[in-house]
Amino acid sequence: MGNKTMQKVDQAGRAGRVLVLDDEPVIQDVLRNLLEKSGYEVTVLGDAAAARKLLSEDGDWDVFLLDFMLPDEDGMEVLKFARKLHPELVVVMITAFGTVENAVSAMKLGAFHYLTKPFKNEEVRHLVAQAARTSSLRRENRDLRKALEEKYKFEKIIGKSRRMQELYRFIDQVASSTSTVLIQGESGTGKELVAQAIHRRSLRAAKPFLVVNSHSIPAELLEDNLFGHARGAFTGAVGAKRGLLELADGGTILFDEISTISGDVQAKLLRVMQEKEFLPIGALESRKVDVRILAATNENLRDLVGEGRFREDLYYRLAVISIDLPPLRRRVEDIPLLAEHFLARYIKENRKEVEGFTPDVMAVFMEYGWPGNVRELENVVERGVVLATGDRIEVDSLPADLFGPGRTPMVPALVEGVGLSQAVADFESALIRAALEQAGGVQKKAAEILGLKPTTLNEKIKRLGITH
Ligand SMILES: Nc1ncnc2c1ncn2[C@@H]1O[C@H](COP(=O)(O)OP(=O)(O)OP(=O)(O)O)[C@@H](O)[C@H]1O
Ligand SMILES: [Mg+2]
Repeated sequence: MGNKTMQKVDQAGRAGRVLVLDDEPVIQDVLRNLLEKSGYEVTVLGDAAAARKLLSEDGDWDVFLLDFMLPDEDGMEVLKFARKLHPELVVVMITAFGTVENAVSAMKLGAFHYLTKPFKNEEVRHLVAQAARTSSLRRENRDLRKALEEKYKFEKIIGKSRRMQELYRFIDQVASSTSTVLIQGESGTGKELVAQAIHRRSLRAAKPFLVVNSHSIPAELLEDNLFGHARGAFTGAVGAKRGLLELADGGTILFDEISTISGDVQAKLLRVMQEKEFLPIGALESRKVDVRILAATNENLRDLVGEGRFREDLYYRLAVISIDLPPLRRRVEDIPLLAEHFLARYIKENRKEVEGFTPDVMAVFMEYGWPGNVRELENVVERGVVLATGDRIEVDSLPADLFGPGRTPMVPALVEGVGLSQAVADFESALIRAALEQAGGVQKKAAEILGLKPTTLNEKIKRLGITH
């Protein structure tokens, strides 16, 4: 390891570009000679001011060798500056013998490693080669991440699964119309992101996009917020107030958690949709508005209509076009991509040095059922970044929930003497039992959960000898 043949050589035949910042002429010479012999392009500077200037103009270094003791500034400050400007830069600190504490705090600030003076040539060669490899890995990772995100990104939505790709096409189709869209999906599946994407891809993109969260506001206040009021409409209404409908004129309003709005507001909303006008509270004349209405819900609205808790006529108006967002467990192929995406975000936000997840962590992610969907994954990754002490997120920094009963093992343990068909049958039985349990024993409902026709499920139950 660390010999010349292991190094990645660029097209000009260089092993990489190294920046050295040290004020001692002897050290400067030793490092320059040593590294140039190994094929690196070496630039040597003697003070922090020069380094700050150069780094502001040029961040394309593979390795930055940085002394702690500089004539004009503390090397630690230069480290902070360099990492902030170029988060991918690989920095190796040069430290005098006996000041390893400094080196440790530098590593916490994102330095890759440290060299203790006086150093051996072999040690320098080895460490710089390692740093250069890390640098090219970081760049490759970054480029790959970018390429993936561009390919699998639609507005702010990430996903490569077939269902998400279909969703992107569907959004593009419906965005340009003025029609209402009902967005259904479990909590955390990205309903708000979808609503935003519809707005941004529509001709209304330059106009406001407002979100009304009916769940968090009491009914009377919601009405006031939505429709506004005339002056003197009620005690305390000293001036007139414009409602959200008016503020969103020409744009889009998302009614989040639409299932929670009161019967009163349901009736008024229906009128807005039918007549394109509304009456502010206490006003004598109605106002015309042109807003596109989107609605989101994590409850089954049709069921609520059946129970008499939601107006049927409003439901049909809202559901002219409906989008069902699949839960995360039904598109596990999106999990690695989403995990990487959130990792990149939270590394940046927390200024931490984390390269990725251990394979064990990824395996847990793939097997877990994610009841909180993408939001839950996002929270788990953020927590992992905050708790990470090494260069990868480890199983230790995952919350206990991920190992609890919500877990749906996708790959059962291999048991000696059990062939594939037996294992598949066992797995199938387990899933069917779980679905039946969830459906309260109602086969038709269990079939729906499993995405099977009731007749198919019935056959399987008989064939596998499942009693329930
Ligand atoms: N496909 C996705 N790509 C990237 N981020 C996503 C995706 N889906 C959800 N998120 C993120 O997950 C979080 C939850 O998304 P969002 O608020 O849109 O979910 P929701 O379906 O409206 O949830 P709720 O029903 O709880 O309101 C947000 O931080 C969002 O940015
Ligand atoms: Mg939401």
